Amino acid sequence: MASLKGKDILHGNQFSKKDIDAIIKVAAGFEKELKGKGALNLLKGKILATLFFEPSTRTRLSFEAAMQRLGGGVISMASAESSSAAKGETVADTAMTVAQYADAIVIRHPRIGSAKEAADAADIPVINAGDGAGQHPTQALLDIYTISKELGSLKNLKISLVGDLKNGRTVHALVEILSLYGAQLFFVSPGLLKMPEEITAHLKSKGAAIVETEDLAYAASQTDLVYMTRIQKERFSDLAEYERVKGSYVVNAGFLAALKKDLTVMHPLPRVDEIHTEVDSYAGAAYFRQVRNGVSIRMAILAMIFGKR
Ligand code: NCD
Repeated sequence: MASLKGKDILHGNQFSKKDIDAIIKVAAGFEKELKGKGALNLLKGKILATLFFEPSTRTRLSFEAAMQRLGGGVISMASAESSSAAKGETVADTAMTVAQYADAIVIRHPRIGSAKEAADAADIPVINAGDGAGQHPTQALLDIYTISKELGSLKNLKISLVGDLKNGRTVHALVEILSLYGAQLFFVSPGLLKMPEEITAHLKSKGAAIVETEDLAYAASQTDLVYMTRIQKERFSDLAEYERVKGSYVVNAGFLAALKKDLTVMHPLPRVDEIHTEVDSYAGAAYFRQVRNGVSIRMAILAMIFGKR
């Protein structure tokens, strides 16, 4: 992908290292440019539609904030229940309809592949903000931006990804990007929630170094950063199974003290119980800085798909 202009953003594997470096540069540039200003005029007259058929706080609000910070407008629906999806309209028909009103679409939907369906139907750029247990590429971009800021470089990365690796779309997208940087990856999960075999096999075929373990303390001792995730309760068909694995991994003050080293802690949020609030004041707790980076990265993505950067 030479440029993001007019492109859909659907999957973590669609980016080259060059793309990611360019997106990070644009995001960092916007952070400087926005200082002391409420908004820029870059996307004046453009409209972004946000279609969220699953709950969201950060992804939706940060896209809407990013669009407004760039001087563009946003149209949206209150919820899936208030859209015609509740009457049985397909994702493709919804996307074709919204394409008559807006210049780009951000969509979140519970079904894997739904964002691709929207993109195939609509003749405007479509951004996948989470398709079920599939992918969440813009989260992965804000995550790699955060990693570069927190660790100061994207070289010699040693990272633990922890929790629901089976259903977590943020980790599914992030590992694709991390593998481009030759990162050493520790996949930490209960046996039931392991990273899907096809993803692990695909990463290994690209030369990724992966250790799979159930032991968080061991993985944390071997890595510089732990990326915690929520056990994705809504993806379990058997809630007894959820009860068995919930609370599997917890980062608290005692855990960090026992490690005897600086560890960076990230989380896409929302958290349930996997990071105690006492960790929030710890210098390495990066998850709210991660949230803030989401606006800059989404400004970069929007400006680039509209060909303004
Ligand atoms: C994540 C998601 O929706 O996949 N949240 C987010 O976008 N920041 C993670 C989660 O729900 O656990």
